[in-house]
Amino acid sequence: MRYSSITAFIMVLALAQGVEAAADTEFRKPTAAEEKLLNLPLGLNANFAAIPSDNPITKEKIELGRLLYFDTRLSRNDTIACATCHNPKLGFTDGQPVSLGIGTLKGGRSAPTVINRLFSKAQFWDGRAPSLEEQAKGPITNLIEMGMPSHDVVINKLNDIRGYRDRFNKVFGTVVTLDGVAKAIATFERTVVSGNSAFDRYQDAIEGAITEAQIRGLKIFKEKARCTQCHAGFNLTDEKFHNIGVGWGGHRPDLGLFDETKKLVDMGKFKTPTLRDIADTGPYMHDGRFATLRQVIDFYDRGGDPNPFLDKEIVKLNLTEQEKRDLEVFLHALSGEGWQTKVAPKGFPQ
Ligand code: HEC
Ligand code: HEC
Repeated sequence: MRYSSITAFIMVLALAQGVEAAADTEFRKPTAAEEKLLNLPLGLNANFAAIPSDNPITKEKIELGRLLYFDTRLSRNDTIACATCHNPKLGFTDGQPVSLGIGTLKGGRSAPTVINRLFSKAQFWDGRAPSLEEQAKGPITNLIEMGMPSHDVVINKLNDIRGYRDRFNKVFGTVVTLDGVAKAIATFERTVVSGNSAFDRYQDAIEGAITEAQIRGLKIFKEKARCTQCHAGFNLTDEKFHNIGVGWGGHRPDLGLFDETKKLVDMGKFKTPTLRDIADTGPYMHDGRFATLRQVIDFYDRGGDPNPFLDKEIVKLNLTEQEKRDLEVFLHALSGEGWQTKVAPKGFPQ
């Protein structure tokens, strides 16, 4: 009975919104020259890097992207940059449950980290952007993020800045274009990586890399707690979508992937996030509901929040207090390096 009103609500939503077709992006592995620029730390596999065929990585493009990423002039009143919500000092997120945008307007979802996006194609909690390039175009005109009235307005504004005109000319051989802005920002984002964590050094058989408790935690992570059913591989994600029940205790759950596909099987599904640097990127989940990793572990331990669409891998775990503690200290072994060198530029093009 409890779910009948939810079902009715879902039907109304399904009727109200059309389904947008995702643009096809062709991806390839990095070339030798690009690999050199990426300079991936231990544990990251370049063969899984996804680079659009029409957006090669160059040194000049990374630098242009960095300038744009940190430049508040991309927002309507010069107050918000990408870095406001994906702040390098906060593990490339914002430390808030849900993000505050222009005029401190609140969105409904938590800002994910930009770290290791190099290894993903679909972007956003519901994967609705098929590439980082497509993703980057969204926030600029999003009314509650950077608040620009249109893409033309921001492109004209940037074209009035001689320093940007010159740089676009060098990198793309054009004036400032939306396509170029998106390509440059996405290229910068691909260089924001994390590896060489204690976990990576342990996998590499480096002695003393992690503690005994962390080794026990890793075993629990893989076996009893089943975390690797979804947080799998070197980037700790299967890049797939699952309903783990976040938000189904309330009266109006975020329907996640369903809102994009309108398929019942996608109800309440969200993208499995990477767990790299997870100790630095709280609060957790798409709605930022958990402030601590312990709360996340307790949530999984009780089998998520019940709903008719819950993933079959989410079950009661019956972890002991010791197992929970070991699992938590293991998650700290996933904090790595690379992204710490990606800092704000000293100045911006004038
Ligand atoms: C006001 C805060 C805010 C600003 C400004 C902002 N973002 Fe985001 N970003 C978010 C939130 C919230 C999400 C998650 C939204 C969702 O999934 O529906 C997100 C999602 C993303 C993702 C997807 C990550 C993933 O794991 O799928 C990327 C990449 C990203 N933003 C990059 C950018 C870039 C580039 C800019 C600047 C052009 C930017 N963001 C500006 C809040 C912000
Ligand atoms: C069935 C797949 C699945 C399993 C099994 C799973 N996760 Fe997740 N995990 C996800 C998904 C999907 C999300 C995002 C859910 C959301 O926000 O609604 C997530 C989110 C998280 C987050 C928050 C990440 C962030 O950036 O906010 C952490 C931490 C986490 N999982 C840890 C674990 C641990 C520890 C285990 C094992 C006890 C585990 N997960 C088991 C799929 C899974």
